[in-house]
Amino acid sequence: MRFNPFGPLQQLLTAPRFLVLCLLFSVSALLMGCSEGTYPVDIFTEMHYNESYKSQEPNRLDGPPDAVPVSMPKPTATGEELFIINCSMCHGFTGTGDGNVLSTMITKYKYTPKVDPDLTSDMVKNLPDVAILALISNGITVMPRFDKLLTEEEQLLILQYVRELQ
Ligand code: HEC
Repeated sequence: MRFNPFGPLQQLLTAPRFLVLCLLFSVSALLMGCSEGTYPVDIFTEMHYNESYKSQEPNRLDGPPDAVPVSMPKPTATGEELFIINCSMCHGFTGTGDGNVLSTMITKYKYTPKVDPDLTSDMVKNLPDVAILALISNGITVMPRFDKLLTEEEQLLILQYVRELQ
């Protein structure tokens, strides 16, 4: 019999134990993916939603005993900040649909938007609030759904900001 250099690899790939491991891995990836985020399988969630800055900081020395304690109100994001983080990469900072990501999709990947992504157009001006909120929650073709990423309050803040841009 001729020597088959791929023999051991073939044996490994068809070994039942290996197949079971692959299956377990896929199932756990799927389960992790179902927990949060935008995409059906979302193992790495968007970084700007991770509150990793605290856990990654090393412990610190205590402040000097005579230091003046400062307490600051917890910052809440404004509609503008939420729009910049979640929407501006496609709809642009002024909402006219000229964000970098969408421009690249259109010029480089020949994507044709199904409706006009200009949020200041008469079309969107005339859309009732509920319709825009539904678009934010459910997404539309390439626009991701935000129902699992933003609370209802945050979606309302964004809606208000979109109305300001118009
Ligand atoms: C990945 C890019 C992308 C992101 C991010 C995105 N959108 Fe969109 N959006 C689009 C595109 C493209 C369309 C046009 C429909 C299509 O082709 O998908 C659209 C359509 C819309 C429409 C309907 C416009 C019309 O003319 O009826 C609204 C409203 C909208 N987006 C709001 C938002 C808001 C608010 C956010 C942020 C929470 C957001 N979008 C995030 C790409 C995006």
